[in-house]
Amino acid sequence: MTPALRRLRRHAAPVALAVGLALTAASAHAETAATPVVAPLAATGKWSAYSEGRAATPPMGWSSWNAFGTDLTEARVLDSARIIVDSGLAAKGYRYINIDDGWWLKRRQSDGRMQVRIQLFPSAAVGGGEETSLRPFTDRLHKMGLKAGIYSDLGRNACSQAYGGPNTPNLPEGTVLEREVGLYGHIEQDISLYFKDWGFDFIKVDGCGVRAFGADSERVKAGTYRELPPLIDFQSISRTNIPAVRGLYTQIATSLKASNPDGDYVFSLCAWGSADVRAWGKDVGNLSRTSDDLTPSWSRLLTNFDSAATRALYAHPGSWNDPDMLFIGHGEFDAKHLVEARSHFALWAMINAPLLIGYDLSQASPELMQIFGNEAIIALNQDAGGHQAVLAYDSDDVQILIKTVGADPTRKAVALFNRTAEGKDIILTAEHLKYLANQPVKLHDLWAQADQAPFTGEAKFHLDPHQTLIFMASGTPVLSNGQYLSDLPGRVNPAVDGVVVPQADPFIYRMKSPWNGTRGRGDIPAYTGWGGAQADASPHGRQLQIAGKAFRSGIGILANSRLEVRVQPSDRRFEARVGVDDSTLNTTEAVTFAVYGDGKLLVKSQPLRFGQTPQALSADLNGVRLVELVATSASPSANPAAVTWGDAALLK
Ligand code: GLA
Repeated sequence: MTPALRRLRRHAAPVALAVGLALTAASAHAETAATPVVAPLAATGKWSAYSEGRAATPPMGWSSWNAFGTDLTEARVLDSARIIVDSGLAAKGYRYINIDDGWWLKRRQSDGRMQVRIQLFPSAAVGGGEETSLRPFTDRLHKMGLKAGIYSDLGRNACSQAYGGPNTPNLPEGTVLEREVGLYGHIEQDISLYFKDWGFDFIKVDGCGVRAFGADSERVKAGTYRELPPLIDFQSISRTNIPAVRGLYTQIATSLKASNPDGDYVFSLCAWGSADVRAWGKDVGNLSRTSDDLTPSWSRLLTNFDSAATRALYAHPGSWNDPDMLFIGHGEFDAKHLVEARSHFALWAMINAPLLIGYDLSQASPELMQIFGNEAIIALNQDAGGHQAVLAYDSDDVQILIKTVGADPTRKAVALFNRTAEGKDIILTAEHLKYLANQPVKLHDLWAQADQAPFTGEAKFHLDPHQTLIFMASGTPVLSNGQYLSDLPGRVNPAVDGVVVPQADPFIYRMKSPWNGTRGRGDIPAYTGWGGAQADASPHGRQLQIAGKAFRSGIGILANSRLEVRVQPSDRRFEARVGVDDSTLNTTEAVTFAVYGDGKLLVKSQPLRFGQTPQALSADLNGVRLVELVATSASPSANPAAVTWGDAALLK
């Protein structure tokens, strides 16, 4: 097997891999070679994206990190929590109050129990300095009707220890071993403490401990931290041990389930889009970070937004893309930059990002509170369908995003986004919305809370610099008797997306490094995922097209892939026109398209090659709960063909 193909197998069998993964990095590397080979394309009849925990809609709440960094205190956290309740934000869905890095003092060496810094959390001193508990803190939050979140790391040490400068407050104290506050080697003990004993409901698990403590790190060389051979090399996917990272996160998921018999928890993965987490994060936890940290700057917003915006098919109820917490209130999103602050909120809502406020709410102006409290926009984000917005128009300057909301296919949300620092005109067409061009389209402005004059065909809008207009639209769908799969990304899971060699996405906005300025040679985005499954686009972002025939709707994916599709009782038939996409670089492979219902073959295409006209597939879905769409090439290669499920739809 070629190395690339071996990697394909590795990706395809991660659950099996995770079992029995040793906890040391060295042995985890050794495990990679012994990866069992399974048939990833076999129809299973099961939805495999994560559905444990409680994240049927994107979690909402508040986190200490963007507000206070490691300088958090119990009083500061509770101040914002109180304002969330008193202002009515809690009633609108902001529920999780999360403490991030900085809460810990040390790990007690007699029994490995984590100790809280009682100077920061006075209520934790339940039995003097040595007997600490965050239970009084979570009790307070629970009595307020809120939920409580905590933070840890995959490795032995956390991000503040890896990257904090000499003046970082509240770094863990004591000996090298006492300062090992991360989960590594303590997964069951810590998860049980945080959830069973202390009563937390949410955990974010960072990855700095498995990234920044290699033998060549200054901190390790100075003897202040123990070496842990890195599992993640942010610059090199080939030097990253994908199965080991996934294995550690999977062990945590297992412990979370065991420590939370009522299932009331949220598991937030923070691997920043590294380790090909795009492909598997959705199978392991409720949230998965798609990029490095957001900063309060416009260009960083573009970077982070881009890392999630083309990943609609990877987000579903229970498993969401996370482009990072809100930075509204700070820097270029502060009370003097309300246009930018509103854009940030509208965009995060449209792509089903978690809405976690990162601001000291005791300082928030009424205008900022109004942004957080916009009920119509919150409702888009919290829609039960869980359909992340799909890009209907894409450019470096302006974008149009469309989001399916509610059960009525005549209604959709639409956002017009001006990424630039100049005013721009945007033409929105009925076609972008997949509405008939000869029927009126109505728009309701969700910022102004006002109706616009209806239009037919198309309408022109002027956007101020950095402005996002956001509307609920209604019109007459082109497809009258069902819905396109690409409009229902919350019900489509690329269980195997065919990516053999994970690559960084070249279309993610490249900003000047927020941390290094222009030192070095500049960062290309390390976020892997280029070439994954796309709604209404080819895997590489082009128009869907088979033998010259363009498709406005459809799923673009690589060969040797399997999509799972949740079916509702009213869906009676599946239809699509399939073939090798004209964008393919592999023009020799023959690909067979098969449709399964609850694990049984319903219909199959001929083997189809580049240039062959699309073949129509139609399958009766009577009684079927789960459809699987499998595209198989007879000769799998490291450069799989791009294929198209054109006009794929569930019909009544
Ligand atoms: C990483 C994470 C951030 C935050 C910090 C804490 O950088 O990505 O969200 O948790 O660590 O140190």
